Amino acid sequence: MKLVTTTKTKLITRPISISFKKFSHNEIETIASIESESSEFPWSINQLFESILNLNNLCYAVSVKSQIVGYVIAMPAADSADILNITIHKDFKRKGYGSSLIDYLTKELISKGIKTIFLEVRRGNFAAISLYSSLGFAEISVRKNYYTKNSNQLSRREDGIIMCLELST
Ligand SMILES: CC(C)(COP(=O)(O)OP(=O)(O)OC[C@H]1O[C@@H](n2cnc3c(N)ncnc32)[C@H](O)[C@@H]1OP(=O)(O)O)[C@@H](O)C(=O)NCCC(=O)NCCS
Repeated sequence: MKLVTTTKTKLITRPISISFKKFSHNEIETIASIESESSEFPWSINQLFESILNLNNLCYAVSVKSQIVGYVIAMPAADSADILNITIHKDFKRKGYGSSLIDYLTKELISKGIKTIFLEVRRGNFAAISLYSSLGFAEISVRKNYYTKNSNQLSRREDGIIMCLELST
């Protein structure tokens, strides 16, 4: 059996066993392990810890049968919010969990009066850019050569793409 929800632009089909919850520093080991195994440029455990300990930030995990398979951290400020990080466990990618998590976050943000979501993504992160585009995010600006890449890559720098989603209430 499947649940179907809608965002502005796309139908999202997700397994019925999926659930969402706030997470805290108590889950830091699970979160850090997903981050290190599943992201090409993982945050350090200290970066994760600092973001989670900041009580202003919104930290949501998506679970399948009670197992955390991904998370998102967002920072609201006035009537906008920045997505700071989103990662789905490598074994659970391309199954709709990333979309579902952003869909959940979006509803939470709307309920808190947030009108716009911003995020920044590496130009080479095709999976993430495809995900955001599929949910209606649009590119609004470029930070030229903002990121460093891995030392074995030909070019050492990479652009940051700033994307934005206007939320309708
Ligand atoms: C980016 C990320 C969060 C996507 O999560 P996900 O659960 O795999 O995404 P979904 O299954 O919800 O994908 C939704 C849509 O996004 C697009 N998409 C996702 N991954 C893609 C990929 N590898 N290639 C092309 N399109 C992709 C597709 O349009 C997909 O819809 P479809 O499967 O029906 O074609 C995941 O790849 C990830 O954790 N990456 C590492 C961390 C990271 O880069 N985070 C972003 C930091 S800015």
